[in-house]
Amino acid sequence: MVAGTSTALGWLLVLLFSAVAWYLSGQRRAGNKRGKLPPGPTPLPLVGNLFHLDPREMHRSLEKLSKTYGPVYTIHLGSLPCVVLCGYQAVKEALVDQGDDFSDRGAFPVFYRFTQGNGIAFSNGEKWKVLRRFALHTLKNFGMGRSSLEPRIQEEAQCLAQEFQGKKGVPFNPIDLVCRAVSNVICVLVFGKRYDYEDADFLLLLDHFNENFRIMSSRWGELYNIFPRLMDFVPGPHHRIFHNFEKLRQFITEHVRRHQKHLDRNNPQDYIDHFLLRMEQEKQDPQSYFHMDTLVMSTHNLFFGGTETTSTTLRYGFLILMKYPEVAARVQQEIDRVVGPGRPPCLADRKAMPYTDAVVYEIQRFISILPMGLPRAVIRDTPFRGFLLPKGTNVIPLLSSVLSDPTRFKDPASFNPANFLDKEDAFQGNDAFVPFAPGKRICLGASLARMEIFLFLTTILQQFTLQPLVPPAEIDLTPLCTGLGNVPRPYEFRVLPR
Ligand code: HEM
Repeated sequence: MVAGTSTALGWLLVLLFSAVAWYLSGQRRAGNKRGKLPPGPTPLPLVGNLFHLDPREMHRSLEKLSKTYGPVYTIHLGSLPCVVLCGYQAVKEALVDQGDDFSDRGAFPVFYRFTQGNGIAFSNGEKWKVLRRFALHTLKNFGMGRSSLEPRIQEEAQCLAQEFQGKKGVPFNPIDLVCRAVSNVICVLVFGKRYDYEDADFLLLLDHFNENFRIMSSRWGELYNIFPRLMDFVPGPHHRIFHNFEKLRQFITEHVRRHQKHLDRNNPQDYIDHFLLRMEQEKQDPQSYFHMDTLVMSTHNLFFGGTETTSTTLRYGFLILMKYPEVAARVQQEIDRVVGPGRPPCLADRKAMPYTDAVVYEIQRFISILPMGLPRAVIRDTPFRGFLLPKGTNVIPLLSSVLSDPTRFKDPASFNPANFLDKEDAFQGNDAFVPFAPGKRICLGASLARMEIFLFLTTILQQFTLQPLVPPAEIDLTPLCTGLGNVPRPYEFRVLPR
């Protein structure tokens, strides 16, 4: 018995000694490569700063830590050091003033397992530059961010309004309809077609999007990003993410095949057609970035990016407007005055609608849909605020902290359109409005998203009053889960024709 106990104790000591030796040698190895990272909370071996963080509310934990460690500090996610940037000034100095240095994508295991660094959003270096430039150029030619796409969005907004009308005052959850409408706008650009709201394949796919955004925004998604190898073996809902991604890959691949079959070389119809033509042009070039994997992943980035964030913003926006009916009523007054009932709202109206414009901005500011943006990394050894971040250091730009920076907004904690209005009630922009992240890697679809949010929101409010099923005071605006994204609580409402 005594011998057994001492053997166990011996093993424990060996294990402990190995762990400490491993940790110290790791620290030394990292220290050699490390340059000079900003200080932060002391990490533990293997788990890093796990105990300083709440994986259910990552961005809040990170904001809290900045109260102790300042606007620029280092946190360890497992054994990976990440530099956290908090508040307008720090994020601007890094992502804008030193934009080139901070332009790589940082480690994001939950996406990496699927993309393998292909596509636009999760590639780096020359590959990223070429694929991003190609996507921007092609989508702009099809009208992204330009008035030529406006009629398409207006049409889709009318389809959504018709669906709302069809509910005849019966309560419903808008999630599916809003998602279908928003997704159709990007589908036209990428796949060259819109989908019927009842199309079964389309609906299934959008369910996969929603589910992935929700799980990635839960503690499971965050834990996967910190301990990917371990979480591969831990049962849990995070495995659904990869199952859903696989379905998306199949859907996109099937579309690409159909495009290949019907490709008219003199008349490319959409992003996929253009990509296929470029693949043909460069098929002899072994260094080309235009091949099947990059096509499927870029298409996925545009499809997922173009659907989930914008539709969640609209859905959250409706909920906020029900919580603050006086704000919704003032927007409706402005719509009635500037647009009237006889024609659909258009982008040119925006200038004459400062209050509505301010409400749209304030919705995006208040919900901070991607509170930590997407992780960045430095492309070279980078001096920053007296530190030296070695090439490849991961960087987390805390967009939520910029969007609620008290030095930049009058009333950052509340939903208050006055955050974007001057004393004369004219619209007032703000450099700290960064839901799309600033700098070289700014969201590729920012201009499209802004057009969509304005046109969808005004079209719906022109035709309907939104009626909650509970008194406004009981509407809870805190997110259902928060991680990659801030996901609103599910709700039902009635839409009453005006
Ligand atoms: C409200 C709507 C949207 C928000 C808040 C949003 C936000 C963001 C943010 C924060 C990033 C990370 C930028 C960075 O690296 O720091 C991003 C990247 C990206 N977004 Fe969006 N996005 C929205 C809509 C869209 C739309 C409509 C599209 C499709 C056209 C899109 C496509 C992309 C792509 C492809 C990237 C990767 C860019 C790159 O790595 O170069 N997004 N978005």
